[in-house]
Order: sequence, then C-alpha cells, then structure tokens
Amino acid sequence: MAQPACEYKPGLEGVPVAQSSISYVDGKEGILKYRGINIEELATKSTFLETAFLLIWGRLPSKQELDDFQEDINNHRRIKYHIRDMMKCFPESGHPMDALQTSAAALGLFYSRRALDKEEYIRDAVVRILAKIPTMVAAFSQMRRGNDSVKPNDDLNYSANFLYMLTEKEPEPLEARIFDVCLMLHAEHTMNASTFSAMVTASTLTDPYAVVASAVGTLAGPLHGGANEEVLTMLEEIGSIENVRPYIEDCIENKKKIMGFGHRVYKVKDPRARILQQLAERLFELTGHDEYYDIALEVERVVAEKLGHKGIYANVDFYSGLVYRKLGIKPDLFTPMFAISRVAGWLAHWREQLAVNRIFRPTQIYVGQKDGVYVPIEERS
Ligand code: ACO
Repeated sequence: MAQPACEYKPGLEGVPVAQSSISYVDGKEGILKYRGINIEELATKSTFLETAFLLIWGRLPSKQELDDFQEDINNHRRIKYHIRDMMKCFPESGHPMDALQTSAAALGLFYSRRALDKEEYIRDAVVRILAKIPTMVAAFSQMRRGNDSVKPNDDLNYSANFLYMLTEKEPEPLEARIFDVCLMLHAEHTMNASTFSAMVTASTLTDPYAVVASAVGTLAGPLHGGANEEVLTMLEEIGSIENVRPYIEDCIENKKKIMGFGHRVYKVKDPRARILQQLAERLFELTGHDEYYDIALEVERVVAEKLGHKGIYANVDFYSGLVYRKLGIKPDLFTPMFAISRVAGWLAHWREQLAVNRIFRPTQIYVGQKDGVYVPIEERS
C-alpha cells in the first residue's frame, strides 16, 4: 500500500475532515459562533427553532418562513403507533439513549430515502426529525414508568411542549425559555465525535434517520454527551463543600478525569458553561436554591487552581445537569436532551455534506503480522 499522505494522529486531533461554514470556535478566546453570530447573542435573542433554521439553511428565516417552519414541526410532533408499540417493548431498565437510537433508526422504516438531491425531501426530513425526536424521548420516559405517552399539546411551543410531555405539567414561561436556551447552546459545535459520525454515515448517501441514529449512538458515550449525567453523580459523591478538595486531589493523583472539565478545543472556560451558569442562577431564583450548586462552584474553584495551568476549565456539561435537574429531568435523560438539541447541528452537517459529497474512506497504518500461518484447530495449543 502507498504511504499515507499525512502523519497518523490518534483521535484525528487537528486533522481537518471537512470545510464547513456552520459554526466557528476560538478555543483560546472562548468564542462560539453559529453562522457568524455569537452564541451569547443567539442565547438572548433567538429561539431553538430559529437557531436550527439558521444552522441548517445558513441564514436567519423571515417571519413567514419561521412561522411555517414552526407550524410544520407542530404538525409532525406525533409518532406513529407502530413506533409507540415498538417502544413499549423496550426494557424499562434500558438507557434512554439506546431507546432513542433505536426509535430514530426506526423512522427510516416509514419514510422514503431516495431523493437526497431534492430540497423538499431534505426539508421534510429535517421537519420530521426535529419534530419527533423530543416526542420519542418523552414517550420512552413515560413508558418505562408504565404510563402511556403524553400527546403533544398544540398550544405550547417546542420547548414548553417537550417539558409538558415529559413531566405532564405545563412549565412556567421562564422554565420553558431556559430549556430553549439550553437547546440553542448544545445545537452545534464544529467537528466533534457525533457530528463526524453523522457525516461519515451521511457520506454513504444513506437516509437521514440512519445518519441521526449513528450520531445518537456516538453521543451516548461518557467522553462526549454522557458527561453531564456523570457530573451529577460526581457532585452527589462529593456530597459536601468540605469534601471537594480531597475529592479533586484524589482524582488528579489517580489520573481520574473530573467530569464536566476539559475540552479538546477550549483552553478557557467554555462560553456555553458561562451562559448555563447564569441560567442556573436565574432558575434557582424561581425554584429555590440548590445545594449542589454550592458544591459545583467549589469544584470549579479547586479545578481552576489545580488544573487551570493545563487549560482545563468547566465545559458545557458542567452546569447543564444542574439546570436539567431543576427542570424535573432525570439524570439518565440528560444526554437525550443533548441529542434533542444537537440534532440541529447534525442535520446542518448532513445537508452541507450532501452538497459536496465524497464517501469517507480514510486509510490506516498496518502494524500486524504479514506472514501469518493457518494452523488447523487440532494442532493449536
Ligand atoms: N480531569 C482531569 N484531567 C484532565 C481532564 C479532566 N476532566 N481533562 C483532561 N485532563 C488532563 C489529562 O489527564 C491529560 O493530562 P496529562 O497531559 O498530564 O496526561 C491532559 O489533561 C490532556 O487530556 P486529554 O484527555 O488528552 O485531552 P483531550 O483533549 O483528549 O480530552 C476530553 C478532552 C475527552 C473532553 C477530556 O477533557 C475529558 O475526558 N473530560 C471529562 C469528560 C467530559 O467532561 N466530557 C465532555 C466534553 S464536552 C462535550 O463533549 C460536549
């Protein structure tokens, strides 16, 4: 085999795998932009669905376009009874990310896949996926408790409706708005493991449901989307402010990763963590103080003192769990929250990939033996 064109980089660190105009990160300055617009500005002025439109189609929608988009999404929020019946057979002890991956893939059974060159097909798939993913997450959460799924409420917007389907209670407007901002913050983040996974799958020209299902599977791991669930477990294990320092020192001494800290790109505090921390504080004003927030603040202080010199600071996952918990979301649903949001970014990359598609086919450096001998089984020791 010919020599590889470039040096092997484990984890493809620093290796560009696409040209993209969807989002931009400056890890040294702590800047994140979607289509050129600062995340801070979107978090104050936009909504998740408008941001999803911006990411996928590369521009802010007109009022009419946004109204139509929202209406189409509202009209597709229900899931077919076949899928609901299938979900009822899932083991209640199963992880909601596994349930979501399976249900997302199952959508492909119902919708045709052979018009990837047509903009209407793309819009249709985008609408269906954005509409149905939250319903599927909420449905599994109800079903594993032995309940029927809660029907979408036509009077509620995207985020309020999701919280309603999940908790059977209409959220306060501030709670719905905070959740909507969380969705915006997690919607896209340049080239990361799940987005890359989506792009590799997309590059085979398979259907968008398979693209999303593979990205959900990738997001599920604890080094990616699974970290926010682990942050809460860590805060519970720490249990008190006094225990923070010995706990963190023990992690560092034993080379254990502190969950919610560190990032391949950000070497300062993740800008999304800054916004999430402010949201957490606003939420606590409404719902009451959270003792784990005090522990979290102390963890952040001690980690900055011990690991700040290595550029290890709080990432997006550090405060999101605290916010979700206050919104009545169970810890094992934190990563599905991430998926509900990040699906916007995956779909944006799917659409971008289709326009310039070349199937991913990297290479490898073979380090195995070249002169193996087949030994018959009866002669093997
Ligand atoms: N706690 C303690 N030490 C850390 C942490 C951490 N969270 N993160 C990095 N380090 C240390 C490593 O031990 C290593 O130290 P060394 O050079 O002395 O061996 C150094 O920093 C570099 O670490 P890598 O793992 O090589 O950094 P990488 O860029 O590959 O990792 C990652 C990034 C996977 C996010 C890592 O920081 C981590 O595992 N963090 C905890 C899990 C987490 O919060 N994940 C969510 C990330 S955000 C997201 O996916 C949405």
